[in-house]
Amino acid sequence: MQIHIVPDADAGARVVADLFERAVRDAGDQGATLGLATGSSPVPTYAELIRRHREEGLSFARSRAYLLDEYIGLPADHEQSYHRFIRENFVDHIDLDSAQVHSPDGAAADPAAEAVRYDQAIQQAGGVDVQILGIGSNGHIGFNEPGSSLVSRTRVVGLTPQTISDNSRYFTSADEVPVRAISQGVGTILESRRIVLTASGEHKAEAIAQMVEGAVSARWPATMLQMHPDVVVVIDEAAASRLELADYYRHLHTLETEQSSTAAR
Ligand code: F6R
Repeated sequence: MQIHIVPDADAGARVVADLFERAVRDAGDQGATLGLATGSSPVPTYAELIRRHREEGLSFARSRAYLLDEYIGLPADHEQSYHRFIRENFVDHIDLDSAQVHSPDGAAADPAAEAVRYDQAIQQAGGVDVQILGIGSNGHIGFNEPGSSLVSRTRVVGLTPQTISDNSRYFTSADEVPVRAISQGVGTILESRRIVLTASGEHKAEAIAQMVEGAVSARWPATMLQMHPDVVVVIDEAAASRLELADYYRHLHTLETEQSSTAAR
């Protein structure tokens, strides 16, 4: 894992946006397959990518996008659906074709069959080039809650009381938060060619410490990212505050920056 400890969310957003921009440019005419997360963590990155689209001509016209998850019971146009969230916070503001924004159908009559269809659709699209992830304070990625199989596929999952309470800030009350979702599995997420996880705040510090330095375990599903060869973690000082080896990661980062500025000369 490459760990970037950044001063604030805006600095983190620039690092993540650089990786997305590179994926889009590297894909050329074929177009990149972008893996998108919802929640608050990726919003500054989406804002930075929107800015680059408007001010620097970064084009997503040939790209396609796959969301990580969707609440069961909410149709795509529901105010709190993840499909709507990603439209309002990102894709409605860039030139990505809206027909190329894919998510599990939370209103499907058979959610289990819908989960299988969605998993296969990602594979048929050739897999995700770059996946952005947030992390739950309990170590979930997507909605793979503690106890999830570390090789799980896209499926119907039940949300923990902690996640329901964390997400209730978007609803009028905790009673309105759906209790089930369709989520890409840990195994599905791990098939992305590159993964960028971003987090900020003290409430994420324990999950980040487990993910980077803890034993791989279903108790903290994000620990499975240790088994992926290309993961970039972009966190602020508060989220990094429980990392035992934080100084070492800072040192590595300085070395890398020096190396790339030497190479650029
Ligand atoms: C969102 C998702 C979740 C969030 C996580 C962190 O699509 O799958 O795993 O990334 O719950 O949420 P925030 O960023 O709101 O703290």
